Amino acid sequence: MSDTQLIKQKIDIVDLIGEYIELKPAGINHKGLCPFHGEKTPSFMVNRDRQRWHCFGCNKGGDAFTFVEEIEGLEFVEALKLLAQKAGVELADFKQDIHKSQKNRIKEINLEASRFYYNFLTKLDAAKSAREYLAKRGLSDQTIEKWQIGFVVDQWDLLTKYLLKKGYSIDDLVASGLTIKREGASSQSMKGFYDRFRGRIIFPIRNVHGDVVGFTARILVETEDSGGKYINTPQTLVFDKSQVVFGLHFAKQAIRKKNLAIFVEGQTDVISCHQNGSENVVATSGTALTEGHIHLIKRYSKNIAFSFDSDSAGVSAAKRAIGIALEAGMSVKIIQIDPDYGKDPDEVIKKHPELWQRCVDNAKDVMQWYFDMAFSDKNLSDPKQKQAAADELLPEIQKIQYAVERSHWVSQLSALLAVDIKVLEEDMKRLTRKTPLATTQAKPENLESRPERTRSDELSEAIFALLLKYPEAGSVEFLVSLEAQLATYPLYERLLSMYNAGQADIEAFRHQYPQSDILDLVEILLMKAELDFGHLSKAQASSEIRSLSEQLKNTWLKQRRAQLQQEISQAEQAGDHQKLQSLLEQFSQLN
Ligand code: UTP
Ligand code: MN
Repeated sequence: MSDTQLIKQKIDIVDLIGEYIELKPAGINHKGLCPFHGEKTPSFMVNRDRQRWHCFGCNKGGDAFTFVEEIEGLEFVEALKLLAQKAGVELADFKQDIHKSQKNRIKEINLEASRFYYNFLTKLDAAKSAREYLAKRGLSDQTIEKWQIGFVVDQWDLLTKYLLKKGYSIDDLVASGLTIKREGASSQSMKGFYDRFRGRIIFPIRNVHGDVVGFTARILVETEDSGGKYINTPQTLVFDKSQVVFGLHFAKQAIRKKNLAIFVEGQTDVISCHQNGSENVVATSGTALTEGHIHLIKRYSKNIAFSFDSDSAGVSAAKRAIGIALEAGMSVKIIQIDPDYGKDPDEVIKKHPELWQRCVDNAKDVMQWYFDMAFSDKNLSDPKQKQAAADELLPEIQKIQYAVERSHWVSQLSALLAVDIKVLEEDMKRLTRKTPLATTQAKPENLESRPERTRSDELSEAIFALLLKYPEAGSVEFLVSLEAQLATYPLYERLLSMYNAGQADIEAFRHQYPQSDILDLVEILLMKAELDFGHLSKAQASSEIRSLSEQLKNTWLKQRRAQLQQEISQAEQAGDHQKLQSLLEQFSQLN
């Protein structure tokens, strides 16, 4: 058995996909909201029997490997490595390939570097002051081990030399971001290369699977030329700060369990919260929140709470982050830190975990937070200030993805301002015209990757889906006149021959065409049948087939007529009388 087959056998696709999205049983399949395009009713199906998935909304589908490639943005070899790990399968076939990928080499280098820094911190005399600093901040030895926090003294190229000695190439070290190449340096002489992180406490940044993809490093002793308080790994093949959520690898279970993800501002806040029993806490790493971050979080919970600084920079960062989260359909709350408790989560939770929990429990719904802010400084007997409050709030209300909720806040605002709801709705329309929402402009992802499917193809697929699920409810004979035009023709051809042999059910199909494209298509159609027609009686299925067939015939006739008309006028222009005659004949036969 090949590695891939073995992995597929050991990993249940329903469990695998269930780690990313919520799946519910639907007949013999499972269904859920597609993670690859926005949708509110499920068209994403998973078939445990065949270990396949398919989305009828965006038309993507495949097996466990393609799912992981797609959702994690991985190449095949990386998806393979990830699933092999999950399945506990030692890869034999692909060892070569895995080593070939520079992405994988960089991840390995990062892991080696994190060990180097950790050992430096925990074992060497030169790291004494760093250990004392972390102890003073209250980080326990277990925490330092769990997060593999490290340190390196301020020297030129300790890490680079160490990793070169281990056999990594200078080009890979530079590509990992750990080594910096000076202008004019040459790989031959090995001169002019130095470490990016020096004299700093170092925190590995892991992706959601736990791979070390980068680092953030805090200065230990600030000097004139020590640079920023924190410096980070630059963009590399494996590190994109707009796509990594710090701490998510350790937080994801707790986020799912508590059904809430808490975003704080600093990485040290994250670590401190985890140490003190609040494990659903994450942060971005030296960047503002992005859609990519939300996309990752959304797999675990739709609820998000932000704890930002309450200074004006903090508030405007919060507003942008909130907008992004709301537009992604998240439910958003704001955690406000009582200044009596401390200035940031780190301080509060260290004083007492209870106090932090109280702040979390008292988190305000984001709209309430906006309302409180908008009304805190307005005099509502002044019409100008009333308008100002509306101008502040309406754009935020408009970002809510759910109509009922949106309307609740519009009426709330109408009551507070003593202004008719209709007036506010008018005002909101004016806003829409000025600044169209991202969601109304959003295009479905990967439009290009979708094969062109005509209405006829869709109809014929629906009919085949019904026929496969309810073999006795109809026949394929009616398609005889149009078959050759359809993308589903190969399927039609085989179905017809099986009908003629008196056996058109799925078992017969699996038996006759094992491991074929046509079987893949049939399996997909069966999932579609489950999704769209799972609840029909045989009689209902029968009448559905008749009505779809009628529609298909009309659609096809329309298409065919249009096509013939075009050909006819071309033949006319070209003066090709013979062709014209034959086309006209075909046209009249159609009617
Ligand atoms: P803070 O200054 O609040 O840092 O910046 P912190 O995490 O609380 O660190 P301590 O407590 O002083 O050790 C918040 C976040 O802003 C980013 C980092 O992600 C940091 O965690 N930041 C800050 C940088 O990227 N660069 C900087 O120079 C400063
Ligand atoms: Mn801090």
